[in-house]
Amino acid sequence: MILVVDSQYQKDAHSEQPVPSELAERKDEKILLVDDNPTNLQVLLQTLNGRGYKLLIAKDGENALRIAHKAQPALVLLDIMMPGIDGYEVCRRLKNDPELSSIAVIFLSALDDTRDKVRGLETGAVDYIAKPFQSEEVIARVENQLKIYRLERALAARNRQLEASNQRLLETMREGVFEVDTDGFVVFANPAACRMTGGDGQDLISRDLFSMILCENCNKPAPREQTALYKTLREGVVQSMEEGGFLRSDGSVFPVDFSYTPIAEKDAITGAVVVFRDVTEKKRQQEVLTQALGEVQEQKDKLTHMSRLSSMGEMASGFAHEVNQPLTAINNYAQVCRRVLYRDDFDKAFLDEAMSKIATQAQRAGDIISRIRSFVRKPDHHLEVVDCNRLITDIVRLAEVDARNNQVEIHLDLAEDLPDVRIDPIQVQQVALNLVRNAMEAMKNQPARDVGVLVETRQLDGSFVCVRVIDRGHGLADDAEEKMFTPFYTTKPDGMGIGLSVCHSIIQTHGGTLNFERNPEGGAILWFTVPVA
Ligand SMILES: Nc1ncnc2c1ncn2[C@@H]1O[C@H](COP(=O)(O)OP(=O)(O)OP(=O)(O)O)[C@@H](O)[C@H]1O
Ligand SMILES: [Mg+2]
Repeated sequence: MILVVDSQYQKDAHSEQPVPSELAERKDEKILLVDDNPTNLQVLLQTLNGRGYKLLIAKDGENALRIAHKAQPALVLLDIMMPGIDGYEVCRRLKNDPELSSIAVIFLSALDDTRDKVRGLETGAVDYIAKPFQSEEVIARVENQLKIYRLERALAARNRQLEASNQRLLETMREGVFEVDTDGFVVFANPAACRMTGGDGQDLISRDLFSMILCENCNKPAPREQTALYKTLREGVVQSMEEGGFLRSDGSVFPVDFSYTPIAEKDAITGAVVVFRDVTEKKRQQEVLTQALGEVQEQKDKLTHMSRLSSMGEMASGFAHEVNQPLTAINNYAQVCRRVLYRDDFDKAFLDEAMSKIATQAQRAGDIISRIRSFVRKPDHHLEVVDCNRLITDIVRLAEVDARNNQVEIHLDLAEDLPDVRIDPIQVQQVALNLVRNAMEAMKNQPARDVGVLVETRQLDGSFVCVRVIDRGHGLADDAEEKMFTPFYTTKPDGMGIGLSVCHSIIQTHGGTLNFERNPEGGAILWFTVPVA
């Protein structure tokens, strides 16, 4: 016979009543009371009645098992000494049945020997109450077990939820996930891992993942000791690796980004999780980008070179004049030499001096030409450690051709003990020349042109050298702040407006800054910085 006593809200004389919210929580909690003695059952019923549990009763072991199967109670209060199968056997059978093993068992018995208690606990009971019992003790112990039961149920439900969302996550992830054991054999592969490696879940399981990981820059599996996975499995370190290679089931390979995370249980490494992404497309895009950047760089180089050639073109007549001077001098000295030669008593010492002057002038012309040649040569992008003062002095010499044309002098104020800089000298010369030429152009026909252009070098905070070109010219246009460094911005009728934009890009590539200020005394100050070597 099964007696179900729905005891909600019934009054219990023995203890405080639970509050209604607790009762609601207990609605599904069934407690099976098993005793062959009707009086004992009655007492138990009275004790637990009114506390919101569903109470079931059984008078012998066989019935208890049958009811347990049918009703799946949370807890069984089990008498030991009963006719037929005793309480120990009931408990043993409950614990051996996977469907019933989670039911908590509390023994209730007149036996009060420690050995009986131990035996009871060994068969799988969670608690033991000796008869005759105190109602409060029964209630407290029952409550304890039910609390555990509730927590276990909540935990199991949460676990199921987490497992389900884990599963969903693994199935929908675009990254491939392998779990491997300590020797690197696959124990789990998610659908993306199967798709990418071209295997079905089954034939990937138990495969040696080491045989699928390629060594850097080659299409063969790497020796396992040299792989990042080996290190993760041996040393328990998390590792990530960009652009490794992976072998598909059909023998083809594909590039991947990997991460290896060790799985540790009780301080021992039991395997690793390998997450990887096929980066074929990323690599392809990178290559396209690298190529495009290369092309942009090539165009920039061409523009920079063109701009240099153009400056030289503009300065060509000045250079012609410059070279012409030593040539004229050479010509003059040569004629004097010839005349001296036709004299009977020619003066050897005089001839020697004239010839050495010819050589000096030839050297001067040669220097001018070699400066021009080195300035217009194609860029080869190499950084050199350079004395910045020397570079400025050289470039000012080149600019002096224009200085004469513009009737503007160039003055130098070079810092002593200036540290060397690491730059592409030709490109930085190009910047300095552009700034000096712009400054001279701005001062042409201006009242303050006698002051000349001042070129200064200074050290800034240990890591940069600053070059300032200060003029007292017509000053900057109102829209200069907005547009000065944009290509084709010019206020000159015959200007191209590419000089400063090229300078800006050169200085940026060097990691420096090109900028300007309005000179408080009138005119402009343009400055740039380059890194100390
Ligand atoms: N020192 C300066 N004083 C006043 N304005 C300046 C100065 N330097 C540059 N600018 C302004 O910046 C503009 C752009 O200069 P940029 O050197 O790029 O081109 P440009 O000199 O006009 O022509 P080009 O390409 O032939 O050099 C100039 O037209 C001028 O308006
Ligand atoms: Mg210019």
